[in-house]
Amino acid sequence: MKDIEIPDPSWGSELAGVILDLEKLRTKRLGGDVPPHIFFQLKDIFHILETLGSARIEGNNTTLSEYVEKIIEENVNDENNDEIKNLEKAIDFIEENTDEETILNRAYISEIHKIITKDLTQPPHGEGSKNPGELRTHNVKIKSSGHTPPEHFLLQEHFERFIDFINFAHKEQYQLLMVAIAHHRFEFIHPFDNGNGRMGRLLNYAFLIKLGFQVKTGRLINPSSVFYTDRDKYYEMLSKADSLDDNDILEWCEYFLLGLKNEIEKIDSLLNMRYVTQEILLPTLVLALESEHITKQEFKILEYLINKDDMSMKSEELSFLGINDSKKKSIIMGKLKEKRIVESISKGGRIYTIRFVNNYLLRGIMKVLKEKGFVSDFLNTN
Ligand SMILES: Nc1ncnc2c1ncn2[C@@H]1O[C@H](COP(=O)(O)OP(=O)(O)O)[C@@H](O)[C@H]1O
Ligand SMILES: [Mg+2]
Repeated sequence: MKDIEIPDPSWGSELAGVILDLEKLRTKRLGGDVPPHIFFQLKDIFHILETLGSARIEGNNTTLSEYVEKIIEENVNDENNDEIKNLEKAIDFIEENTDEETILNRAYISEIHKIITKDLTQPPHGEGSKNPGELRTHNVKIKSSGHTPPEHFLLQEHFERFIDFINFAHKEQYQLLMVAIAHHRFEFIHPFDNGNGRMGRLLNYAFLIKLGFQVKTGRLINPSSVFYTDRDKYYEMLSKADSLDDNDILEWCEYFLLGLKNEIEKIDSLLNMRYVTQEILLPTLVLALESEHITKQEFKILEYLINKDDMSMKSEELSFLGINDSKKKSIIMGKLKEKRIVESISKGGRIYTIRFVNNYLLRGIMKVLKEKGFVSDFLNTN
Protein backbone atom coordinates (compact mmCIF):
# COMPACT_ATOMS: atom_id res chain seq x y z
CA MET A 1 0.00 0.00 0.00
CA LYS A 2 1.33 3.43 -0.96
CA ASP A 3 1.87 6.29 1.47
CA ILE A 4 -0.53 9.17 1.13
CA GLU A 5 1.12 11.80 -1.02
CA ILE A 6 0.68 15.51 -1.48
CA PRO A 7 0.66 16.67 -5.10
CA ASP A 8 2.39 19.96 -5.88
CA PRO A 9 0.12 22.83 -6.84
CA SER A 10 1.49 24.91 -9.68
CA TRP A 11 2.92 28.33 -8.95
CA GLY A 12 0.53 31.06 -9.91
CA SER A 13 -2.50 28.83 -9.48
CA GLU A 14 -5.47 29.99 -7.46
CA LEU A 15 -4.67 27.28 -4.91
CA ALA A 16 -1.09 28.49 -4.40
CA GLY A 17 -2.46 31.99 -3.76
CA VAL A 18 -4.97 30.71 -1.22
CA ILE A 19 -2.24 28.84 0.63
CA LEU A 20 -0.09 31.97 0.81
CA ASP A 21 -3.01 33.97 2.19
CA LEU A 22 -3.75 31.32 4.77
CA GLU A 23 -0.11 31.25 5.82
CA LYS A 24 -0.36 34.96 6.57
CA LEU A 25 -3.46 34.35 8.64
CA ARG A 26 -1.76 31.55 10.51
CA THR A 27 0.91 33.80 11.97
CA LYS A 28 -1.11 37.01 12.03
CA ARG A 29 -1.25 38.62 15.44
CA LEU A 30 -4.85 39.09 16.34
CA GLY A 31 -5.70 42.67 17.10
CA GLY A 32 -8.74 41.60 19.04
CA ASP A 33 -9.49 43.88 21.94
CA VAL A 34 -12.67 42.12 22.97
CA PRO A 35 -12.42 41.20 26.67
CA PRO A 36 -12.11 37.46 27.39
CA HIS A 37 -15.50 37.11 29.10
CA ILE A 38 -17.15 38.35 25.90
CA PHE A 39 -14.82 36.52 23.54
CA PHE A 40 -15.51 33.15 25.14
CA GLN A 41 -19.25 33.64 24.85
CA LEU A 42 -18.87 34.44 21.16
CA LYS A 43 -16.78 31.33 20.87
CA ASP A 44 -19.58 29.26 22.41
CA ILE A 45 -21.94 30.65 19.82
CA PHE A 46 -19.64 29.72 16.97
CA HIS A 47 -19.31 26.24 18.41
CA ILE A 48 -23.08 25.95 18.32
CA LEU A 49 -23.06 26.88 14.64
CA GLU A 50 -20.29 24.41 13.86
CA THR A 51 -21.76 21.47 15.75
CA LEU A 52 -25.27 22.03 14.50
CA GLY A 53 -23.98 22.24 10.94
CA SER A 54 -22.08 19.01 11.34
CA ALA A 55 -25.08 17.18 12.79
CA ARG A 56 -27.43 18.52 10.13
CA ILE A 57 -25.25 17.44 7.21
CA GLU A 58 -26.25 13.84 7.71
CA GLY A 59 -29.90 14.41 8.42
CA ASN A 60 -30.27 15.68 11.98
CA ASN A 61 -33.18 18.01 11.30
CA THR A 62 -32.95 20.30 14.31
CA THR A 63 -33.01 23.88 13.04
CA LEU A 64 -30.97 26.64 14.59
CA SER A 65 -34.11 28.38 15.88
CA GLU A 66 -35.30 25.17 17.54
CA TYR A 67 -31.91 24.56 19.04
CA VAL A 68 -31.71 28.07 20.42
CA GLU A 69 -35.10 27.61 22.11
CA LYS A 70 -33.93 24.34 23.62
CA ILE A 71 -30.83 25.97 25.03
CA ILE A 72 -32.91 28.76 26.54
CA GLU A 73 -35.37 26.33 28.07
CA GLU A 74 -32.58 23.98 29.14
CA ASN A 75 -34.79 21.27 27.78
CA VAL A 76 -32.60 18.83 25.98
CA ASN A 77 -34.03 15.36 26.02
CA ASP A 78 -34.22 13.96 22.57
CA GLU A 79 -31.69 12.05 20.58
CA ASN A 80 -31.14 14.79 18.01
CA ASN A 81 -30.07 17.01 20.84
CA ASP A 82 -27.84 14.38 22.38
CA GLU A 83 -26.04 14.14 19.06
CA ILE A 84 -25.36 17.87 19.05
CA LYS A 85 -24.33 17.88 22.71
CA ASN A 86 -21.88 15.09 21.99
CA LEU A 87 -20.29 17.18 19.26
CA GLU A 88 -19.90 20.09 21.67
CA LYS A 89 -18.23 17.75 24.16
CA ALA A 90 -15.90 16.54 21.44
CA ILE A 91 -14.83 20.11 20.68
CA ASP A 92 -14.13 20.61 24.38
CA PHE A 93 -12.09 17.42 24.41
CA ILE A 94 -10.07 18.63 21.44
CA GLU A 95 -9.38 22.01 23.01
CA GLU A 96 -8.28 20.44 26.27
CA ASN A 97 -6.07 17.82 24.69
CA THR A 98 -4.49 19.49 21.69
CA ASP A 99 -1.59 21.84 21.19
CA GLU A 100 1.11 22.25 18.59
CA GLU A 101 3.01 19.20 19.88
CA THR A 102 0.10 16.78 20.18
CA ILE A 103 0.30 13.53 18.25
CA LEU A 104 -3.09 12.80 16.77
CA ASN A 105 -2.81 9.06 17.21
CA ARG A 106 -5.26 6.23 17.18
CA ALA A 107 -6.15 6.59 20.88
CA TYR A 108 -6.95 10.27 20.36
CA ILE A 109 -9.23 9.58 17.41
CA SER A 110 -10.79 6.62 19.17
CA GLU A 111 -11.64 8.76 22.19
CA ILE A 112 -13.35 11.37 20.04
CA HIS A 113 -15.34 8.68 18.25
CA LYS A 114 -16.58 7.38 21.59
CA ILE A 115 -17.66 10.86 22.62
CA ILE A 116 -19.62 11.61 19.46
CA THR A 117 -21.49 8.31 19.39
CA LYS A 118 -22.20 8.05 23.12
CA ASP A 119 -25.75 6.99 24.04
CA LEU A 120 -26.99 7.25 20.47
CA THR A 121 -28.94 4.49 18.74
CA GLN A 122 -26.83 2.22 16.56
CA PRO A 123 -26.99 2.42 12.78
CA PRO A 124 -28.92 2.00 10.57
CA HIS A 125 -31.57 3.60 12.77
CA GLY A 126 -29.51 6.12 14.70
CA GLU A 127 -26.32 8.14 14.63
CA GLY A 128 -24.46 5.97 17.14
CA SER A 129 -22.02 3.14 16.51
CA LYS A 130 -21.90 -0.63 17.03
CA ASN A 131 -18.23 -0.37 18.00
CA PRO A 132 -17.53 3.04 19.49
CA GLY A 133 -13.87 3.90 19.10
CA GLU A 134 -13.13 0.78 17.03
CA LEU A 135 -12.54 0.38 13.32
CA ARG A 136 -15.48 -1.17 11.51
CA THR A 137 -15.51 -4.93 11.07
CA HIS A 138 -17.71 -5.03 8.00
CA ASN A 139 -17.80 -3.42 4.58
CA VAL A 140 -19.77 -0.23 4.03
CA LYS A 141 -21.16 1.91 1.28
CA ILE A 142 -21.54 5.66 1.46
CA LYS A 143 -25.07 6.86 0.84
CA SER A 144 -25.54 8.43 -2.60
CA SER A 145 -21.93 7.99 -3.60
CA GLY A 146 -20.30 5.83 -6.25
CA HIS A 147 -17.26 5.27 -4.07
CA THR A 148 -16.84 2.03 -2.11
CA PRO A 149 -14.55 2.48 0.90
CA PRO A 150 -11.77 -0.09 1.45
CA GLU A 151 -12.74 -3.57 2.57
CA HIS A 152 -12.70 -4.02 6.31
CA PHE A 153 -9.69 -6.36 6.44
CA LEU A 154 -7.56 -3.67 4.78
CA LEU A 155 -8.61 -0.99 7.23
CA GLN A 156 -5.83 -1.44 9.79
CA GLU A 157 -3.23 -0.64 7.23
CA HIS A 158 -5.17 2.22 5.65
CA PHE A 159 -5.71 3.71 9.05
CA GLU A 160 -2.06 3.45 10.01
CA ARG A 161 -1.07 5.20 6.80
CA PHE A 162 -3.55 7.90 7.61
CA ILE A 163 -2.17 8.39 11.14
CA ASP A 164 1.36 8.57 9.74
CA PHE A 165 0.25 11.11 7.18
CA ILE A 166 -1.39 13.49 9.65
CA ASN A 167 1.50 13.34 12.13
CA PHE A 168 4.40 13.49 9.68
CA ALA A 169 6.49 16.66 9.93
CA HIS A 170 5.43 18.05 6.56
CA LYS A 171 7.29 21.10 5.32
CA GLU A 172 5.43 24.28 6.11
CA GLN A 173 4.12 24.90 2.62
CA TYR A 174 2.51 21.44 2.59
CA GLN A 175 0.82 21.58 5.98
CA LEU A 176 -2.44 23.14 4.87
CA LEU A 177 -2.61 20.79 1.91
CA MET A 178 -2.19 17.98 4.42
CA VAL A 179 -5.29 19.19 6.28
CA ALA A 180 -7.39 19.33 3.13
CA ILE A 181 -6.20 15.97 1.86
CA ALA A 182 -6.64 14.37 5.27
CA HIS A 183 -10.31 15.26 5.39
CA HIS A 184 -11.00 13.71 2.03
CA ARG A 185 -8.86 10.67 2.74
CA PHE A 186 -10.52 10.03 6.07
CA GLU A 187 -13.93 10.03 4.38
CA PHE A 188 -12.56 7.93 1.53
CA ILE A 189 -11.36 5.27 4.00
CA HIS A 190 -14.51 5.56 6.15
CA PRO A 191 -12.83 3.78 9.07
CA PHE A 192 -15.86 3.62 11.37
CA ASP A 193 -19.30 2.09 10.97
CA ASN A 194 -20.81 5.53 11.48
CA GLY A 195 -19.78 9.05 12.48
CA ASN A 196 -17.10 9.36 9.82
CA GLY A 197 -18.39 12.71 8.61
CA ARG A 198 -18.60 14.18 12.11
CA MET A 199 -15.22 12.76 13.04
CA GLY A 200 -13.53 14.09 9.89
CA ARG A 201 -14.93 17.57 10.46
CA LEU A 202 -13.79 17.56 14.09
CA LEU A 203 -10.32 16.58 12.99
CA ASN A 204 -10.20 19.77 10.93
CA TYR A 205 -10.56 21.68 14.15
CA ALA A 206 -7.76 19.70 15.78
CA PHE A 207 -5.48 20.20 12.77
CA LEU A 208 -5.84 23.96 12.90
CA ILE A 209 -4.93 24.04 16.58
CA LYS A 210 -1.95 21.86 15.83
CA LEU A 211 -0.89 24.12 12.99
CA GLY A 212 -0.86 27.13 15.30
CA PHE A 213 -3.93 29.02 14.15
CA GLN A 214 -4.45 30.50 17.65
CA VAL A 215 -7.80 28.82 17.88
CA LYS A 216 -7.88 28.45 21.64
CA THR A 217 -6.81 31.91 22.66
CA GLY A 218 -7.84 34.60 20.31
CA ARG A 219 -9.54 33.24 17.27
CA LEU A 220 -13.00 31.98 16.50
CA ILE A 221 -13.11 29.42 13.79
CA ASN A 222 -15.53 27.18 12.01
CA PRO A 223 -13.19 25.15 9.85
CA SER A 224 -15.90 23.15 8.14
CA SER A 225 -18.34 25.96 7.51
CA VAL A 226 -17.84 25.87 3.75
CA PHE A 227 -19.44 22.42 3.78
CA TYR A 228 -22.51 23.80 5.51
CA THR A 229 -23.22 26.47 2.93
CA ASP A 230 -23.79 23.83 0.25
CA ARG A 231 -23.89 20.19 1.16
CA ASP A 232 -24.39 18.96 -2.41
CA LYS A 233 -21.26 20.77 -3.49
CA TYR A 234 -19.36 19.23 -0.53
CA TYR A 235 -20.39 15.71 -1.56
CA GLU A 236 -19.74 16.41 -5.21
CA MET A 237 -16.20 17.62 -4.48
CA LEU A 238 -15.53 14.62 -2.22
CA SER A 239 -16.79 12.27 -4.94
CA LYS A 240 -14.56 13.84 -7.51
CA ALA A 241 -11.52 13.47 -5.28
CA ASP A 242 -12.38 9.78 -4.79
CA SER A 243 -10.54 9.16 -8.09
CA LEU A 244 -7.33 10.02 -6.13
CA ASP A 245 -6.10 11.62 -9.32
CA ASP A 246 -3.68 14.48 -8.57
CA ASN A 247 -5.73 17.11 -10.34
CA ASP A 248 -8.95 16.09 -8.63
CA ILE A 249 -7.23 16.10 -5.26
CA LEU A 250 -5.83 19.58 -5.91
CA GLU A 251 -9.28 20.75 -6.92
CA TRP A 252 -10.62 19.43 -3.62
CA CYS A 253 -7.85 21.27 -1.77
CA GLU A 254 -8.71 24.52 -3.51
CA TYR A 255 -12.38 24.17 -2.61
CA PHE A 256 -11.65 23.35 1.01
CA LEU A 257 -8.87 25.88 1.63
CA LEU A 258 -10.62 28.75 -0.13
CA GLY A 259 -13.63 28.10 2.09
CA LEU A 260 -11.39 28.09 5.13
CA LYS A 261 -9.70 31.33 4.17
CA ASN A 262 -13.01 33.12 3.60
CA GLU A 263 -14.29 31.89 6.89
CA ILE A 264 -11.24 32.97 8.89
CA GLU A 265 -11.20 36.42 7.31
CA LYS A 266 -14.87 36.90 8.01
CA ILE A 267 -14.74 35.79 11.61
CA ASP A 268 -11.56 37.69 12.41
CA SER A 269 -13.45 40.90 11.72
CA LEU A 270 -15.67 39.99 14.61
CA LEU A 271 -12.86 40.39 17.09
CA ASN A 272 -12.88 44.13 16.96
CA MET A 273 -14.42 45.60 20.08
CA ARG A 274 -16.23 48.42 18.29
CA TYR A 275 -17.72 45.96 15.86
CA VAL A 276 -18.88 43.65 18.60
CA THR A 277 -20.43 46.48 20.59
CA GLN A 278 -22.03 48.48 17.81
CA GLU A 279 -22.88 45.85 15.23
CA ILE A 280 -23.64 42.80 17.34
CA LEU A 281 -24.49 43.51 20.97
CA LEU A 282 -26.31 46.80 20.61
CA PRO A 283 -28.69 45.51 17.89
CA THR A 284 -29.23 42.43 20.06
CA LEU A 285 -30.30 44.62 22.97
CA VAL A 286 -32.59 46.63 20.70
CA LEU A 287 -34.30 43.40 19.62
CA ALA A 288 -34.66 42.32 23.25
CA LEU A 289 -36.21 45.67 24.13
CA GLU A 290 -38.60 45.52 21.17
CA SER A 291 -39.78 42.09 22.17
CA GLU A 292 -40.09 43.25 25.77
CA HIS A 293 -37.61 40.77 27.16
CA ILE A 294 -35.89 43.64 28.89
CA THR A 295 -37.25 46.89 30.24
CA LYS A 296 -36.15 50.30 29.08
CA GLN A 297 -34.12 50.73 32.25
CA GLU A 298 -32.43 47.36 31.78
CA PHE A 299 -31.66 48.35 28.21
CA LYS A 300 -29.94 51.49 29.42
CA ILE A 301 -27.87 49.58 31.94
CA LEU A 302 -26.75 46.99 29.44
CA GLU A 303 -26.03 49.61 26.83
CA TYR A 304 -23.87 51.42 29.36
CA LEU A 305 -22.09 48.17 30.21
CA ILE A 306 -21.26 47.13 26.64
CA ASN A 307 -19.89 50.57 25.88
CA LYS A 308 -17.28 50.32 28.59
CA ASP A 309 -13.78 49.20 27.57
CA ASP A 310 -13.83 46.18 29.85
CA MET A 311 -17.53 45.49 29.24
CA SER A 312 -18.19 45.07 32.93
CA MET A 313 -19.60 47.16 35.78
CA LYS A 314 -20.42 47.33 39.47
CA SER A 315 -23.86 48.12 40.82
CA GLU A 316 -22.45 51.34 42.32
CA GLU A 317 -22.22 52.68 38.81
CA LEU A 318 -25.99 52.76 38.51
CA SER A 319 -25.70 56.34 39.75
CA PHE A 320 -25.40 57.22 36.08
CA LEU A 321 -29.15 56.61 35.91
CA GLY A 322 -29.72 58.93 38.82
CA ILE A 323 -30.21 56.03 41.22
CA ASN A 324 -28.34 56.73 44.42
CA ASP A 325 -29.75 54.38 46.99
CA SER A 326 -27.35 51.44 47.23
CA LYS A 327 -30.07 49.00 48.24
CA LYS A 328 -32.08 49.97 45.20
CA LYS A 329 -29.00 49.52 43.06
CA SER A 330 -28.41 45.99 44.21
CA ILE A 331 -32.07 45.09 43.71
CA ILE A 332 -31.90 46.22 40.09
CA MET A 333 -28.66 44.33 39.49
CA GLY A 334 -30.07 41.29 41.30
CA LYS A 335 -33.02 41.24 38.93
CA LEU A 336 -30.72 41.19 35.91
CA LYS A 337 -28.74 38.42 37.51
CA GLU A 338 -31.88 36.42 38.15
CA LYS A 339 -32.80 36.78 34.49
CA ARG A 340 -29.28 35.51 33.76
CA ILE A 341 -28.56 38.52 31.55
CA VAL A 342 -25.65 39.56 33.70
CA GLU A 343 -23.27 37.41 35.63
CA SER A 344 -20.53 38.12 38.06
CA ILE A 345 -16.95 37.79 36.82
CA SER A 346 -15.12 38.71 40.02
CA LYS A 347 -14.37 36.65 43.09
CA GLY A 348 -16.42 38.76 45.47
CA GLY A 349 -19.23 38.75 42.92
CA ARG A 350 -19.39 42.51 42.59
CA ILE A 351 -18.32 43.00 39.03
CA TYR A 352 -20.83 42.05 36.36
CA THR A 353 -20.73 41.44 32.66
CA ILE A 354 -23.45 40.83 30.11
CA ARG A 355 -24.37 37.26 29.35
CA PHE A 356 -25.96 36.28 26.08
CA VAL A 357 -25.43 32.57 25.55
CA ASN A 358 -27.97 30.97 27.85
CA ASN A 359 -30.95 33.30 27.83
CA TYR A 360 -33.28 34.88 25.29
CA LEU A 361 -30.61 37.34 24.18
CA LEU A 362 -29.30 34.32 22.25
CA ARG A 363 -32.32 34.55 19.96
CA GLY A 364 -31.49 38.12 19.05
CA ILE A 365 -27.80 37.56 18.67
CA MET A 366 -28.36 34.70 16.22
CA LYS A 367 -30.65 36.93 14.22
CA VAL A 368 -28.06 39.70 14.13
CA LEU A 369 -25.26 37.28 13.21
CA LYS A 370 -27.40 35.96 10.41
CA GLU A 371 -28.01 39.45 9.05
CA LYS A 372 -24.26 40.03 9.08
CA GLY A 373 -23.63 36.86 7.09
CA PHE A 374 -22.17 34.67 9.84
CA VAL A 375 -24.91 32.04 9.76
CA SER A 376 -25.63 29.96 6.68
CA ASP A 377 -29.24 29.41 5.58
CA PHE A 378 -28.62 25.69 5.72
CA LEU A 379 -28.94 25.81 9.52
CA ASN A 380 -32.52 26.97 9.36
CA THR A 381 -34.21 25.22 6.47
CA ASN A 382 -36.45 22.23 6.98
N1 LIG B 1 -18.41 10.52 -2.33
C1 LIG B 1 -17.92 10.57 -1.09
N2 LIG B 1 -16.63 10.21 -0.88
C2 LIG B 1 -16.11 10.22 0.36
N3 LIG B 1 -16.81 10.61 1.44
C3 LIG B 1 -18.06 10.98 1.30
C4 LIG B 1 -18.69 10.98 0.03
N4 LIG B 1 -19.96 11.39 0.20
C5 LIG B 1 -20.12 11.66 1.52
N5 LIG B 1 -18.99 11.41 2.19
C6 LIG B 1 -18.71 11.60 3.63
O1 LIG B 1 -19.40 10.61 4.38
C7 LIG B 1 -20.00 11.22 5.52
C8 LIG B 1 -21.11 10.35 6.04
O2 LIG B 1 -20.58 9.21 6.67
P1 LIG B 1 -21.09 8.69 8.10
O3 LIG B 1 -20.18 7.63 8.60
O4 LIG B 1 -22.55 8.39 8.04
O5 LIG B 1 -20.84 10.00 8.98
P2 LIG B 1 -21.83 10.68 10.04
O6 LIG B 1 -22.54 9.56 10.75
O7 LIG B 1 -20.96 11.51 10.91
O8 LIG B 1 -22.74 11.53 9.23
C9 LIG B 1 -20.39 12.59 5.01
O9 LIG B 1 -20.58 13.55 6.02
C10 LIG B 1 -19.21 12.95 4.15
O10 LIG B 1 -18.18 13.51 4.93
MG1 LIG C 1 -24.18 8.50 9.67
